[in-house]
Amino acid sequence: MRVDKHIEKLKPYEGGKPIEELRRELGINGRIIKLASNENPLGPSKKAIEAIKSIADSVNLYPDGDCFYLKNKLAEKLSVSRNNIIFGNGSDELIELIYRTFATGLNDEILYCYPTFVEYKIIGMSFGKKLVEVPLKNFSYDIDALIEHINDRTRVIFLNTPNNPTGAIIKKADIERVIDNAPDNKLVVIDEAYYEYAISEDDYEELLELYKKGNVIILRTFSKAYGLAGLRIGYGIARAEIIDYLNRVRPPFNVNIVAQSTALAALDDREHIRNSVEVSRRGKFYLYSEFDRMGLRYVKSYTNYVLFDVNRDADFIYRELLKRGVIVRSMAGYGYKTMLRVTVGTDEENRIFISNLEEILNV
Ligand SMILES: Cc1ncc(COP(=O)(O)O)c(C=O)c1O
Repeated sequence: MRVDKHIEKLKPYEGGKPIEELRRELGINGRIIKLASNENPLGPSKKAIEAIKSIADSVNLYPDGDCFYLKNKLAEKLSVSRNNIIFGNGSDELIELIYRTFATGLNDEILYCYPTFVEYKIIGMSFGKKLVEVPLKNFSYDIDALIEHINDRTRVIFLNTPNNPTGAIIKKADIERVIDNAPDNKLVVIDEAYYEYAISEDDYEELLELYKKGNVIILRTFSKAYGLAGLRIGYGIARAEIIDYLNRVRPPFNVNIVAQSTALAALDDREHIRNSVEVSRRGKFYLYSEFDRMGLRYVKSYTNYVLFDVNRDADFIYRELLKRGVIVRSMAGYGYKTMLRVTVGTDEENRIFISNLEEILNV
């Protein structure tokens, strides 16, 4: 089978192995904790679980392609119009839809700072796009350098705030500068997957109103603080014209029936979100204090994960933690050879992670 070069070059996404398979492979008898994918360690809310049970009888039906009830509720919550919202099978799907809708030309360029969320790159490569990657500066987006790279071929600019994997944010004024420098046929994507965590920090600025400013789409998700990663549902907020174009390309039943009714219920459970954010904040400060005690550098995070420096080969530390049943992410593949990213877990999970890390670093 012959395929185009840009497909040949792709490597399949390597997801983590199922926990039970890891247990078998590594011969671990005790507990395995997964702090690798920035999921909510508390799980979904009780209301969400009830919604899953009650929709089970209806999965013989196709989902509502318009996400009618969910869209109504979210529009009310955000004080935007229904036609400013689009849902996706995870915000991942919306990233792909953005490519398919707004970056269809042969010479189109995609611009972002790197390291950032790796899907911008993977999806871009699958479409054979030219990816323009500007290095981060002090773990944050380098907005001056980014703006310098905007040209006639630029079609999509990704701004990830807080940025995955560093946890650093982009100031609202800097985002506005990018928007002002991206006229006509360029789309600015503000990826706020960690919004609920970020907004609990005093100095995180609300960005929602920026969708009115130009060719902008704000992406958020139910995968993180809402604890629904396994159901795959995220959303975008943009001017009606942009949403309309995306809807022309969107597969008709892209968001499944269980995800729709569960997200609807999850929106009602504010207590669960508050609690999830609180547990994460507490855990993050615990991790900071333990890293300080161990003399390890870390990046201040506006999210539910922390990037930290072990001053040793990150892949080695990753493997040692894995052997002890603690799964984190090595950042060596991103060029941070001595850094790892850990998702903030429950208090107990955080303690287990720290005691294993300390044991490994002291050997
Ligand atoms: C920055 C960022 N954007 C988007 C996503 C994708 O989220 P979803 O589960 O909604 O596809 C993630 C997931 O890790 C992320 O970190």
